[in-house]
Amino acid sequence: MGLTRRRFLRGVATTAAGAVLGGRARRARAAPAPLKIGLLLPYSNVYAVLGESITDGLSLVFERAGWTVAGRRVELIKEDDEVNPQVGLRKAKKLIESDGVDFLVGPVSSGVLAAIRDTVHQARQILIVANAGNDEISRDRCSRYIFRASFSNWQPNAPMGSWVAAHVAKEAYLVAPKYAAGFDMMRAFKETFVAAGGKVVGEDYTPFPVNEDFAPFLTKINQAAPKVVYAFFSGSQAVRFVRQYDEFGLRARSKLCGAGFLTESDVLPAQGQSALGIITGHFYSTLLDNPANKAFVRAFRAKYARTPDGFAVQGYDSAQVIAHGLTATGGDTRDKDRLLEALRGVEFDSPRGRFRFDPRTQNVIQPFIYVREVREVDGELANVVVDRIANVRDPGTGCTLPG
Ligand code: BEZ
Repeated sequence: MGLTRRRFLRGVATTAAGAVLGGRARRARAAPAPLKIGLLLPYSNVYAVLGESITDGLSLVFERAGWTVAGRRVELIKEDDEVNPQVGLRKAKKLIESDGVDFLVGPVSSGVLAAIRDTVHQARQILIVANAGNDEISRDRCSRYIFRASFSNWQPNAPMGSWVAAHVAKEAYLVAPKYAAGFDMMRAFKETFVAAGGKVVGEDYTPFPVNEDFAPFLTKINQAAPKVVYAFFSGSQAVRFVRQYDEFGLRARSKLCGAGFLTESDVLPAQGQSALGIITGHFYSTLLDNPANKAFVRAFRAKYARTPDGFAVQGYDSAQVIAHGLTATGGDTRDKDRLLEALRGVEFDSPRGRFRFDPRTQNVIQPFIYVREVREVDGELANVVVDRIANVRDPGTGCTLPG
């Protein structure tokens, strides 16, 4: 049975049930259908902790609203994509076709997003991307059904290329995992680093999603003795890379810089002193001094007894996008054009600053990309903001959405 037909029949069934009720029951309004949100996230493997953070951030918003938005009870259906494109595709189809979710939220991996993009688009399924940054989704593979509340891989890295060339050194060695996100992020860094007079002296892509040992790559870096190493790793790979980089004695010789995920709050406690001094670019720091962030950090710590990270902000903002969009349509998810229009116009104060989508790509405009350095603050490691670049939007090359 096709999705449209199923939804149509569900609507008809509600109407028919209402028509046959008699007496007082006829006057009582049928409860609106629950709002089904499918979470397609990794709850196992390299990015498991990211999936948990996104879920926790998202839950905070709905819990505050009593698990009801615009009169509809919120129901979460969680699926583990295992950071595996084939598994992600199978689970996405299950959420869309069998569960009939109103919104899909996720995934974390660019590989999984690449795999599900066409299925989502053809099913006219609204997807709020809560992490995966593949640039193509804001460019030639953009879709009017896909909104990204996280970042494109270009956004944190392109500003860092020119910043590192101007403030750290003009000679860099690049290292990242061998899949779409690693390639995107290094390409973005190179684009502005080279344009600012920087030279790339080496470039390596490490096994993904499983890699225990970075020694072969660290040996090459040691031999090249670059002034800067620019890296992207996240989750358990970020912990291993940063610790092994320190154990190899590279910290004293080559300044480690990278995409913010390398030192987010999810990995800092396990990285310990090895992370001190690392410089990264990200749209967020727990230390941001704005009222929305103060409230978010307080509520997150109270509920989960840990410091939130950028992934939790992405979950929090994905939920706010859904809540604001749905409130604008009075809870109606059936008129898809109206709902899409409402989502495109969503704006609110996020922990990262004012949240809004770029109408040309439906990717979030980052109020700032912050350059952060890991330092000790009140006895805890934290990403301290040392500089910032305003209004960072993906170039959106090749995306033909009406802007
Ligand atoms: C990605 O695959 O797009 C990704 C994963 C972890 C952190 C950032 C990006």
